[in-house]
Amino acid sequence: MHFPGHKDKKKEEAAQTALTKLNSWFPTTKNPVIISAPMYLIANGTLAAEVSKAGGIGFIAGGFDFRPGSSQLTTLSNELSLARKALDLSDRPLTPLPAIGVGLLLTHTVSVPHIIDTVLPILQEHSPQAVWLFANDPDFESSETTPENEKGKAKQLIEAFHASGFVVFFQVGTVKDARKAVEDGADVIVAQGVDAGGHQVQQGSGIVSLVPEVRDMVEREFKEREVVVVAAGGVADGRGVASAIGLGASGVVLGTRFIVATEAATPEFRRKLILETTDGGINTVKSQFHDQINSTTIWHPVYDGRAVRGASYEDHAAGVPFEENYKKFKEAASAGDNSRAVTWAGTALGLVKNQKPAGQIVEELRKEAKEVIRKIQVYAA
Ligand SMILES: Cc1cc2nc3c(=O)[nH]c(=O)nc-3n(C[C@H](O)[C@H](O)[C@H](O)COP(=O)(O)O)c2cc1C
Repeated sequence: MHFPGHKDKKKEEAAQTALTKLNSWFPTTKNPVIISAPMYLIANGTLAAEVSKAGGIGFIAGGFDFRPGSSQLTTLSNELSLARKALDLSDRPLTPLPAIGVGLLLTHTVSVPHIIDTVLPILQEHSPQAVWLFANDPDFESSETTPENEKGKAKQLIEAFHASGFVVFFQVGTVKDARKAVEDGADVIVAQGVDAGGHQVQQGSGIVSLVPEVRDMVEREFKEREVVVVAAGGVADGRGVASAIGLGASGVVLGTRFIVATEAATPEFRRKLILETTDGGINTVKSQFHDQINSTTIWHPVYDGRAVRGASYEDHAAGVPFEENYKKFKEAASAGDNSRAVTWAGTALGLVKNQKPAGQIVEELRKEAKEVIRKIQVYAA
């Protein structure tokens, strides 16, 4: 027998359950849930704490080098202490850090085997609530040269984080990768569209198609799991937040908007560039060139990154040979001239018009999103 509307009702219930789950893991959150992305060299402990205080979920960027003695481990530990201080919990070291997470990049394959020995103890000591994994190397996961005990590392890591009570977010850019992350045990899928700032899959889609397809996939293939899906990429205001909720996301991740948050560790020249740049479709560009000019070699070719279209990229697009371009890049950097530096940012930078404390950004996004949701109800009448 066919029940009209039955399918939609089920979808509504699934979305409700995912949201209930997200709110129950993070009881301090308010809806719609705003999440600040773990942006390397930008998203520090103070920023994350202010997002948490305002009812969002704040992620601290943990970097990519997890080998014993790495300075990135020391920085992570310090930033977690700063988050505790900002949350007024310094004298309660055993209280978990509410709605605070740590982002770990899995691109640096020689670092990945160290995560359980080096990063996990830091997380256990400081008690954030969540871990966010991104960008595992597809070859390392399964290649013949990878030691047997390192194969399927993402799954092993998720199991280890679960055993210590952390909620695991996994950022992906395709339905295929989302499926793999859920199979590996991830609790929250961050569906990252190609409008996003920073690194992402080289071949992907925008959140308008990615989020609903990922939602449908998890509801169809993992019925018993109630996987939470959140959206990332291209959202910088309340209209984007409301739309992402409409697409089936239970929460919304913003990176580019928080680059200019008062607390962010962003240098002044990058803040200015982001505030002044408009029309992100033409003034940012997604390319592997940005990593090449930065001499960054940790990224597998399935990834590239979106950055402001600057002087280095313009020369590259005009056919200037790489060696000559690189020389200009190095000379400018040593002369203190930032005009040739790479500034990661998403297409939504044209909507980023002001610098504000992170808590205020969260509150305004939530308020604006609710107004939009109320306004568009007229279309349902
Ligand atoms: C400057 C910058 C640095 C980033 N660094 C990281 C990172 O260290 N780890 C990570 O998982 N994602 C990183 N991202 C991607 C974000 O997680 C997120 O997907 C993205 O910012 C969302 O898109 P939006 O910038 O349009 O809001 C970065 C993004 C930016 C803009």
